[in-house]
Amino acid sequence: MNPQADFHSGINQGVAPVTYGQGDRPPRGDYAQARADYTCDQNWSAYTATDHEMYRRLHARQTAQLPGLACDEFIEAVAQLGPSTQIPRFEQLSERLMRATGWEVVAVPGLIPEEAFFALLAKRRFPMTSWIRKPEEFDYIVEPDVFHDLFGHVPLLFNPMFADYMQAYGAGGLKASRLEACEYLARLYWYTVEFGLIATPAGLRAYGAGILSSAGELRHSVLSPQPQRIGFDLERMMRTRYKIDSYQSTYFVIDSFQQLFEATAPDFTPVYRRVTQQGELDANVHLPSDRVY
Ligand code: PHE
Ligand code: FE
Repeated sequence: MNPQADFHSGINQGVAPVTYGQGDRPPRGDYAQARADYTCDQNWSAYTATDHEMYRRLHARQTAQLPGLACDEFIEAVAQLGPSTQIPRFEQLSERLMRATGWEVVAVPGLIPEEAFFALLAKRRFPMTSWIRKPEEFDYIVEPDVFHDLFGHVPLLFNPMFADYMQAYGAGGLKASRLEACEYLARLYWYTVEFGLIATPAGLRAYGAGILSSAGELRHSVLSPQPQRIGFDLERMMRTRYKIDSYQSTYFVIDSFQQLFEATAPDFTPVYRRVTQQGELDANVHLPSDRVY
């Protein structure tokens, strides 16, 4: 079967999809067990003691370094994730999340095609990889696992403004698929949801899941003199390529989740057209118009 077919349709055919950022290794999840919309059972009782221990260690290491580096909204919501000593049960997490913002989390085998991903977000359902990394991947993993999806993404889904942004993103993704602009929209996701920084009265803080679930990038993104940090600029973001196998060389800084929500509310159709005309930029490029932090 041609995997490209389900990549475009977003319907699970039981084989691993072709997705961005996949690398050379085959995806680990069992796509044969997933439903047509790519959701599957978490199968909580199948986690081993080693799996729970890995979650406990990851959770402890990350939580210890949040103060002064993560935004307050994130820190306040971490307690809502549930037990820190074992992988949470998705149904219980969904109950709390549903009460707070109307979102729920659903299990998936791993990376899923864009269309399927957008469709879930548009329904306020966040897809969570069900498996956890192996002990030798404690420090670094390329693919998202349950720790990244849960610890990185779920805390901000408890924030009403950010929760609305994520749903709008999903709806915008379905539209971008029709306009063949998914790559631009993927960059917006990357530089906000995954690697975003926010300016607060106390200084720069991280809100991106890729940063907040990373052992080393949290300090690097907020404190290192190496990367450039530039003010939120929608079209600049959409033009900028990104790195999937190293720390980012450019981070974009928002002033508030409200700014993010409002700046992305207008119709992107003319935006995509302008971005196509202006052309792509390398991840580490500096422009005179960049508002540097
Ligand atoms: N406003 C965007 C559009 O018209 C949709 C969108 C909202 C995309 C929020 C991303 C984030 O396509
Ligand atoms: Fe992620």
